[in-house]
Amino acid sequence: MGRYSVPLAPQLADFAAVAPGQRVLDVGCGPGALTAELVRRLGPDAVSAVDPSKPFVAAARERYPGVSVQAAAADQLPFEDQAFDAALAQLVVHFMADPVAGLREMARVTRDGGVVAACVWDHAGGKGPLSLFWQAAHELDPKVEDESRLAGARSGHLAELFQAAGLHDVEDGVLSVDLAHPSFEDWWEPFTLGVGPAGGYAAGLDTERHARLRERCRELLPAAPFVLTAAAWAARGVVQRTAFGGR
Ligand SMILES: C[S@@+](CC[C@H](N)C(=O)[O-])C[C@H]1O[C@@H](n2cnc3c(N)ncnc32)[C@H](O)[C@@H]1O
Repeated sequence: MGRYSVPLAPQLADFAAVAPGQRVLDVGCGPGALTAELVRRLGPDAVSAVDPSKPFVAAARERYPGVSVQAAAADQLPFEDQAFDAALAQLVVHFMADPVAGLREMARVTRDGGVVAACVWDHAGGKGPLSLFWQAAHELDPKVEDESRLAGARSGHLAELFQAAGLHDVEDGVLSVDLAHPSFEDWWEPFTLGVGPAGGYAAGLDTERHARLRERCRELLPAAPFVLTAAAWAARGVVQRTAFGGR
């Protein structure tokens, strides 16, 4: 679903008020959809990125020479306290084993008064880019486990996690992107790559069930070409250290 994360990136950067002169960390950068937007706004020297996946780290390093990209997870960031003006995580919080620990660590490496921001697709409200796929999967198999229970994927949950992580002035919002699909095949192809929970689910089906799922998706979608709108929950909070050194 990387093609949806490209138009999402400027919106998350706006939501976090990323502006020239800042130093910003991209947590869970993947191949670099948000990294690209940060480089565009700030220049490569002002951007750092981490991801626990070594292939993604290699891809991001190759694409963005000059950006410091390291292999690390959100809950163990290889940076000093207050190293950044902002720390952002686009479509990552729901993959964290302990989202509050990850957000707390993002706050640790952000300066006093700086911003932590994140977004997660609206999997629970049925407005994420994968929602139609999971709707079709549910119709064919009501026991299917979709992504709606993941952290941050339901209304207000991301903001709750930010509060639990000790962030201040927490605000939540909705980011929304439109993506044009010239054909059904263009929409379906990423689900055949075995990537992520949806791709893994499709890959585990036998040929007949796989074909039924594909055809049910085709029925549910508008006639091609079509434009789909996908929404993500977003939250941001301010780092405020107390006089006693806590947050
Ligand atoms: C859906 S991708 C999003 C990538 C990129 N931020 C974007 O918007 O395109 C999720 C990324 O989170 C990374 N990830 C998973 N668990 C993580 C963790 N605990 N800390 C940081 N990143 C993590 C994955 O390796 C993957 O690159």
